Parts: sequence; C-alpha cells; structure tokens
Amino acid sequence: MNEVNEQLVQAAIAATHNAYAPYSNFHVGAALLLDNGKIVTGSNFENASYGMTLCAETVAIAKANSDGQMRRIVAIAVAGGPKSSEGGAVIGAEPITPCGRCRQVIKEVADEVAIDLPIHCAHASGYETHLLSELLPHGFGPASLR
Ligand code: THU
Repeated sequence: MNEVNEQLVQAAIAATHNAYAPYSNFHVGAALLLDNGKIVTGSNFENASYGMTLCAETVAIAKANSDGQMRRIVAIAVAGGPKSSEGGAVIGAEPITPCGRCRQVIKEVADEVAIDLPIHCAHASGYETHLLSELLPHGFGPASLR
C-alpha cells in the first residue's frame, strides 16, 4: 500500500471524530493532500434543518480555500460510517464515495488545478481509489465556461 495514500486515509478516519452528525449518526471525515505534503481535514457538519448539512469533503475544501491553499490540492481521502462507541466512525466493508454535490465541488478544484484528482475511498480493510473523472464523467466545471 502507498504510504502517503495510507496516511491520507488515516487522517480522514481521524477526522470522523470531529463530525457533528447527531441526526444521521453517520460520521464522515475528509482529508486533502496538498502539493507541499500538508494535509487539510474536514468533517460533516449537520443542521437541525437537515438539508443545510455540510459534507466533510465540502468543509475540507472550503477550509483549504479560506486558508489560501485550494490550488495546492493533489489528492483526497474520505472515510465514514455510523458512530462508534469511542466516537468517530465504524468504517464499513463497502467504500464510501463522495455524494453528488461533493463531486461537483471537487470538480471545481480539479479544473482549477488541472488534475484528475484521485479520491481514496476508505473501507474496513483499506481503501479504493477512483479518479474524479470516473465518479463524475462528463462533468460541468469552470473549464466548461471558457
Ligand atoms: N456525508 C458526507 O459528509 N460526505 C459524503 O460524501 C456523503 C454524506 C454526510 C452528510 C450527512 O451528514 C451524513 O453523511 C449522512 O448522509
């Protein structure tokens, strides 16, 4: 297993501990690898008005952007599952992949950095990697407007 990818997946799993998910009880963490080796994490942030929930991937990307680091993103990991007794998620047997809205948010980054971003999707025994173009084929992004 690739050590950097593994570290990124572990960071996503650790970020599940900071999820605020009292309604779904599904605790998600995302981790972004920057081109300088740094990692930015995010966790899902639910809301009593359910539809206002922010997903972990979107939180992480907005966080990187507000720190002026969005254009440094080179890879993404996501992990999640129902809350464990210790906090954080119980990672299930099936890999978790970003929701449709998050794929569109990732598309914005991918077009900006001109990288078909790899997304490492965690499962109980490791992770599987998909390129954004596999998860969002024929997507609409900033390049579509040029
Ligand atoms: N969730 C994420 O944070 N990322 C995804 O890509 C899938 C869904 C969150 C939203 C909600 O808080 C919970 O998982 C259940 O859908």
